[in-house]
This record gives sequence, C-alpha cells and structure tokens, in this order.
Amino acid sequence: MKAVPAHWQWFNQSRFGLFIHWGPYSVYGRGEQALNREFLDQNEYARTACDWNPKHYDPAVWASVAKNAGMKYAVLTTRHHDGYCLWNTKTTDYSSMQQAPKQDFVRTYVDACRAAGLKVGLYYSLIDFRLPAWFRGPEKDPTGWQQAKQYIFDQVRELLTQYGKIDVLWFDGIWPRPAADVDSKGLLSMIRSLQPDILVNDRLEWPQFSWYWQFENWKKRYPGEYLGDFGTPEQGIYADPDYLWESCQTAVSRLWGFTRGERWRSAEELLFTLVKCSCLGGNFILNVGPQPDGQFPPEFVERTAAIGEWLKVHGEAIYNSEPGDVTEFITYGWQTVKENNLYLIIRFWDNRPTLQLVGLKTKVKRATLLTTGQDLAIKQTDKELVLSGLPPERPTALYPVIRLECAAKPEPNEWGKCRTWRGDNEFLARWAESRGTSVWADGKPR
Ligand code: GLC
Repeated sequence: MKAVPAHWQWFNQSRFGLFIHWGPYSVYGRGEQALNREFLDQNEYARTACDWNPKHYDPAVWASVAKNAGMKYAVLTTRHHDGYCLWNTKTTDYSSMQQAPKQDFVRTYVDACRAAGLKVGLYYSLIDFRLPAWFRGPEKDPTGWQQAKQYIFDQVRELLTQYGKIDVLWFDGIWPRPAADVDSKGLLSMIRSLQPDILVNDRLEWPQFSWYWQFENWKKRYPGEYLGDFGTPEQGIYADPDYLWESCQTAVSRLWGFTRGERWRSAEELLFTLVKCSCLGGNFILNVGPQPDGQFPPEFVERTAAIGEWLKVHGEAIYNSEPGDVTEFITYGWQTVKENNLYLIIRFWDNRPTLQLVGLKTKVKRATLLTTGQDLAIKQTDKELVLSGLPPERPTALYPVIRLECAAKPEPNEWGKCRTWRGDNEFLARWAESRGTSVWADGKPR
C-alpha cells in the first residue's frame, strides 16, 4: 500500500464501520429505492415522505450499538436517491427540518457519534429521482442541469460547514452521468477547501474504480487517476493492495433500506467478512436499515453484539493490523500481522490437541490462545512449528485466535514462499523428487 497520510491512518486502523440507510423510504419496508424500482407515483411518495415522523430516533442509541459492536466509525445517508434531506437545509423544504419531524437529524447524529468517540461519515446521493434534468442531462436541458448542479454544490457545502469536522464523505448514484457533467473535480476541490482532512470515496465518477467487474479495466484505462481516496467494493471484497478500501455490505441478503421480512446473515457470516477484509488489508462497513420509527431491527443488534463480544477478546488481531498470508494457513482460516505478532484466526476446530504450521521462518517466542488466555507449548524446527495443548472443544462459538509472538516481523520460509509462487520452484521440484520410486505414477522407475 502507498504510504497512508497521517490524517487518514485512523481509517486504515479502524477495520469496522457502520453504514446507516435511513429515510422516508423505510416506511415502505422494501429497501431504499422503492420510488423508482416500483415506478411509484411521485406525488404520493412525496406526501408519504412529508408525513414520515419517526418517534424513536435516538442517535445516541445507534452510536452505542456501533460501539458495542466494536465499530469505529459511522456513515449516515443524509440524502438518498429520493432527494429527501435529513438536515437543516436552506436549499429545499423537502427535509426533516421543514416536514413532519421538525428536526435536524444530521445535527443530532453527528453529535452522538462525536460523543461516543466514533468518526463521522455522511453519505450523499448525487442522483435525485425527482429531477427531470438529472435524467435529461446538460445537453437537452442546460438550464435545469445548471440548477441541479448548483443544488448539489450548495447542499454539499451546507453539510461540510454546518456540522464541524466530518471525517468521511460518501458519494453515490452519479449514474447515468459522467463525472464531467457534475463537475466532480470542482466539487472535490470545494470539499478539500472546506474540510482538508476529509476522506472522499470513489463514487464521484462512474463506473467507480472499485466495482469488481471493471476494476482491472479501470486500472488499465486510467492508471493512477482516481478521483476519490478509497475504494468501495459493494457486497463483495475486491482488495487493491495500493489503495485504501472498504467493502460495504448489508446484514440482510440484499437491500440497504429497511426491508420487512428480509433474511438475515448470521453473526458468523458477518464476522467472516470482517476477518477476510482485515486479512486482505481493508475495512468492512456493515449496513443497517433502521425501522421507520428510528430503531435498529433487533436482529441487527443481536448479531453485532456477538461480533462486539468477540472483538473484545480478539480485537488485537483485527484493529490496526496488516494483511497476513505469511504462512500456509488457508486450511484453518486467516492470518493478520501486527509488529512482530502473527495472528492465526481459526475457522474450524478439528479437536486435535496440536496444530502444525509449516510455512513460518521466524522464531516464535510465545504462543497464546487469546480466546482463553492460555499459553501453548511450542516446538519449532527448520521445517515446522508445532503448537500443543489446545483444548479439545472449540473455545468459542465464533473464531478462536492464536497469537504468535515472534522474534522479528514474521516471514515465510522457502515453502511458505513457494506455495504462493514467490519462491524458487526448484525447492518444489526436489520435494516432488523425494518420492523416489515409491509409486510408478509416470511409468518410469528411477
Ligand atoms: C448502490 C445502491 C444504493 C446504495 C448503495 C450503497 O449504489 O443503488 O441504493 O445506497 O449501493 O453502496
């Protein structure tokens, strides 16, 4: 990874964040885009939106759920594709301030995050499903387009001047317009002048560079020309070793806004994603679609609390860690590295009292099963490391973790390098040769 500037390091150390998709669409309970996916009547939708009046919105409770889950930052949809604004804006009366709630939701959200020690992120959709000019574009409707563009600049300026320091600005929905139409570069320089330390995601242009289906193409077409500061692979993990990135995923199977009757992913599946992002060097931002009344669905609270419990004991393997993959460990799970420590995050427990690791060159001074705090016996030769004294039963329902404290930064041995094709293949040839004449698989005894 390119050196991360000091003011952005918090992002790369955080690993786990909370994404919140909330707005009048939650009343429908069918995701965040019912307005256009269901081709709804614009006037009827607007009436529903103006009447929306959540009775249990308490961002301090949201922040405590995030803290309890071990999350370090949050990102809230200040305006989604329906155009409804969750803040005190002078640009329109289609906002929580001027309609039924008579509240500046962004104000109280930012304050609650700050009070809880969470970094603050704001999501902003460029597309507004209500504006004909957005669909017609600047050629067909130059006046309408100019107004729509000014409206975006004015709103972003409000968000970045009314609420103190904002840590992340998360754009979305530029489609189907190219960056030049929106003057994404101009927008970005305004953002930088208002909030010099802010991190901006990669969706000020479309397709964004971290969309997996065109990631490689993008790198070829625009080498080094990324408009944002971090990638946002969606519902998947596409790690770019050169850039900051954050995989955004839902806790339910697909939609971002509240969805009545959706299927929930288990705590184990969600932790799987967090661990996988960490061992590849990126963040995981997990989405919640709060209910229309402002409360988080209980299924979300339960699952994230279980992850938080796990992080309390095993978090040192996740926060501020570097990508692992030092030794051969894929059979069991994942690895991360921090200074001289190698963390083994174990997916399955096969009830054997020993665990053998063949790819590590560095001397191990101490091995600890973090889950129980118990030290494990170490036997290390040039060929392998054998840990013994493991409990027969899996010590946690989620993933046990072993910390190997090494004499130096953990390095692979020849086998560890060869298995990733970074070593000398002659080493593997000699290994194959060691078979001698045991089986005449190629028909020629030697
Ligand atoms: C997609 C969806 C949008 C959602 C976003 C989150 O762009 O269109 O509804 O907010 O993903 O990454």
